[in-house]
Amino acid sequence: MKLITTLTLGALLAASAVLAAEKPAPAPNGIELPAYYKNWRVIGVSHRQDKESLRVIIGNDTAVNAARAGNTKPWPDGSILGKLAWKDQVHPKWAPATVPGEFVHAEFMIKDSAKYAKTGGWGFARWLGMEQKPYGADQSFVQECLACHDQVKDNDSVFTHPVPLP
Ligand code: HEC
Repeated sequence: MKLITTLTLGALLAASAVLAAEKPAPAPNGIELPAYYKNWRVIGVSHRQDKESLRVIIGNDTAVNAARAGNTKPWPDGSILGKLAWKDQVHPKWAPATVPGEFVHAEFMIKDSAKYAKTGGWGFARWLGMEQKPYGADQSFVQECLACHDQVKDNDSVFTHPVPLP
């Protein structure tokens, strides 16, 4: 009986660990990590020399459809833009190739012009590393995001220009 209880408890703990791993804690401003973002399509790519990292800019269906249609001034409500970043790494078999190394973070901008009116219509959130730890001690982390993103206010606070596609 005791063995069964221990086993059951173990299974429960393992199950809750899996659940916890699937759903990281929300950002300090209450934004939840968007579900299924790993299945989103690509809007752009970039290489940051200052941060020595590769980035892929992805979007949910609303954002990708807007990008493909050139309907990004402004991006429609419901658009979510994501950016995934990896440290630069030299390809072990082909040195001139820079490929993704260590995963740095996933960050998001959620368009809701009424809800996020005070921050240019976008809700900002970031999760760090493979453990997806929410970034920021409190809600004021958003000011950091705005310090850069406000510089492209004339492009709806978005730096990325969707990649040209044939
Ligand atoms: C030091 C300046 C800087 C800060 C601070 C910053 N960003 Fe950005 N962000 C950029 C640049 C530049 C890009 C364009 C892509 C790239 O080069 O990485 C970008 C791109 C993005 C994108 C893709 C959409 C776009 O605008 O191109 C998201 C999403 C994003 N950032 C979220 C955030 C969040 C969330 C924060 C705050 C936690 C933040 N950023 C803080 C400079 C910054």
